[in-house]
Amino acid sequence: MLNLNGLEINTRVFIAPMAGVTDYPYRQILREFGAGVLFTEMVSSQGLIQGNRRTENLIEINHEKPGIIGVQLFGDDPSIMAEAAILVAEKHRPDLLDINMGCPARKVVSTGAGAALMQDPKQAGRITRAVAKAVKLPVTVKIRLGWDSSKLTAARVVDRVLEAGAAAVTVHGRTREQFYSGQADWQAITEIASSTSASIIGNGDIFTAEDARRMLETTGCQAVMLARGVQGNPWLVKTSLSLVDKGQQIPGPTIEERISQALDHLQRAIDYYGQERAVPLMRKHLSWYIKGLPHAARIRDRINKLTEPPSIQNLLLNYQQALIEDREQHFKQYLQDLKN
Ligand SMILES: Cc1cc2nc3c(=O)[nH]c(=O)nc-3n(C[C@H](O)[C@H](O)[C@H](O)COP(=O)(O)O)c2cc1C
Repeated sequence: MLNLNGLEINTRVFIAPMAGVTDYPYRQILREFGAGVLFTEMVSSQGLIQGNRRTENLIEINHEKPGIIGVQLFGDDPSIMAEAAILVAEKHRPDLLDINMGCPARKVVSTGAGAALMQDPKQAGRITRAVAKAVKLPVTVKIRLGWDSSKLTAARVVDRVLEAGAAAVTVHGRTREQFYSGQADWQAITEIASSTSASIIGNGDIFTAEDARRMLETTGCQAVMLARGVQGNPWLVKTSLSLVDKGQQIPGPTIEERISQALDHLQRAIDYYGQERAVPLMRKHLSWYIKGLPHAARIRDRINKLTEPPSIQNLLLNYQQALIEDREQHFKQYLQDLKN
């Protein structure tokens, strides 16, 4: 369907890079839910060439499982970005490299990287050219609409990075100033997609399979990228793929499945990081898995006080049981009401 400089991609649903979220354990889960294209969390080019172990650990790739994986780099210096790209390509053998031009965090933009590049389309082009020349892999770029609503530079940045050798551009329909607030501007994505024959991947506010289908249909982009929608909800990958590829709506998870998946994720994180690191990292994931379920806020507060995995696991199992019993009770009541 999509061809990125020779790399065939047969899905129109990508999963976004998300720092602190799409780590190695969660990427394995997303793969098992059908994700064909995944990205690492953003990785500092500077950290990589300085040999920072923690930075490089973000890149671990499971080559045994089929599927496309991109490593996302950030940085402001073309030669450091090129050096980091070579290191990643040789040592980790991803399928593609992505350049972050959207991160709004102060500590990133203050160095001239991430969304700061939206203010300097020429530099965005220089960085892309340096990376694209350094490696044989396809290079993609992920951008925002601009710095703020008075500086909507996306179209210029898209021109520059494509001219510099980018194989596709992901457009997150927000400005840096918006961070993650407000609504993503899909109309702006439509305008960019219609102004180029290159592949544009649309991103922003896909929370349901129907959102994914609608973004593809209304914006004319070649693929969509799921982000916060998959937090605590890997089922969004499956439901979106089914709707987009086959036009079929499939049901989301049951309560049992949500809690079981939370437990499975916790176990994988413990196996990967060890319990001391896993527990604090997993708190946000666990709260996302139970979001919207009865009394979720109280359960989350309780989880946040626990430090030992067995206590968290017990709490989740008891919660699961209580939810099932509560549902059975409601059902009994319903049958009783029918009789009366
Ligand atoms: C916790 C979190 C971490 C993120 N980390 C990255 C990142 O490392 N690289 C990147 O390009 N975008 C990152 N993003 C942005 C997302 O990839 C995506 O562009 C954004 O969330 C908009 O999509 P959404 O509205 O569907 O969430 C992050 C977003 C969140 C919420």
